[in-house]
Amino acid sequence: MERWRGKVAVVTGATAGIGRAIAQRLAQEGLKVVAIGRRAERLKELAESSNGKIHAMVCDVTKEEELVNVFKKTEEKLGPVHVLVNNAGTFLPTQVTDGDIEKWRHMFELNVLSTGTALREALKSMKKNGIDDGYIINISSISSHAIPEGTGKHIYNATKHALRVITEGARQELARKKSKIRISTICPGVVDTEIFDVPGGIGREFLSDKVPRLTSEDIAQNTVDLLRTPPNAHVVDMVVRPLGETLLA
Ligand SMILES: NC(=O)c1ccc[n+]([C@@H]2O[C@H](COP(=O)([O-])OP(=O)(O)OC[C@H]3O[C@@H](n4cnc5c(N)ncnc54)[C@H](OP(=O)(O)O)[C@@H]3O)[C@@H](O)[C@H]2O)c1
Repeated sequence: MERWRGKVAVVTGATAGIGRAIAQRLAQEGLKVVAIGRRAERLKELAESSNGKIHAMVCDVTKEEELVNVFKKTEEKLGPVHVLVNNAGTFLPTQVTDGDIEKWRHMFELNVLSTGTALREALKSMKKNGIDDGYIINISSISSHAIPEGTGKHIYNATKHALRVITEGARQELARKKSKIRISTICPGVVDTEIFDVPGGIGREFLSDKVPRLTSEDIAQNTVDLLRTPPNAHVVDMVVRPLGETLLA
């Protein structure tokens, strides 16, 4: 991780779960972390517990202007962005044939469109500052590798498929430009986080005792594993299941 020490990493959705664990781990590894989320109190607490290594920026990532402004402020205050982790996301069950289009819209705006804005702004910052070895990590899901049985899951599933396709598109565009910037997806299986407590969300009952699960710290470790990959190697898609999972096979 030596090469990333002192470099700026932006992590979206850092007030809870996987994003919070990634922000904390990257700070421990010596990066300057910009933690993004809407809940100011949680960000403040996270920053205060980090010995000045985590910088809180309140932002609703679905608001393009706010997100653009975060990247502008980051560059002014801390320097150019070397690492972006697009993590903010949510799972609101809704139907395909008779669904709640507001839920569709929200999931696509949050899980897909906001990642495009962040990706564009991070690449802009890298290009402007001559950084050709940055890293962008998109947190997709195991559900991008299958089409689930049952109802209510397919729109979330579609957003995570979209994110994986978009990531591969960015990889191809960067490769054609002979850029050394890498972009990867991490596709976790079940991780026990607040995503199961979100009002109108998938619900904690999904997590019966029988469902094996990962921890947010596992995904933070996977993030570090990607950053540690030698610069000539590119792990494009990292699928991480809890050991023994059969649920989403
Ligand atoms: N948990 C799982 O089983 C699992 C499995 C595979 C993939 N994933 C993916 O992993 C990512 C993180 O999920 P998690 O399980 O850690 O969920 P979580 O505990 O519910 O955390 C979600 C994070 O996203 C942030 N967020 C939500 N809406 C936002 C907005 N409009 N603007 C800025 N930030 C926003 C939340 O912060 P604020 O509310 O403070 O804004 C929070 O920090 C998601 O993309 C999810 O789809 C999760």
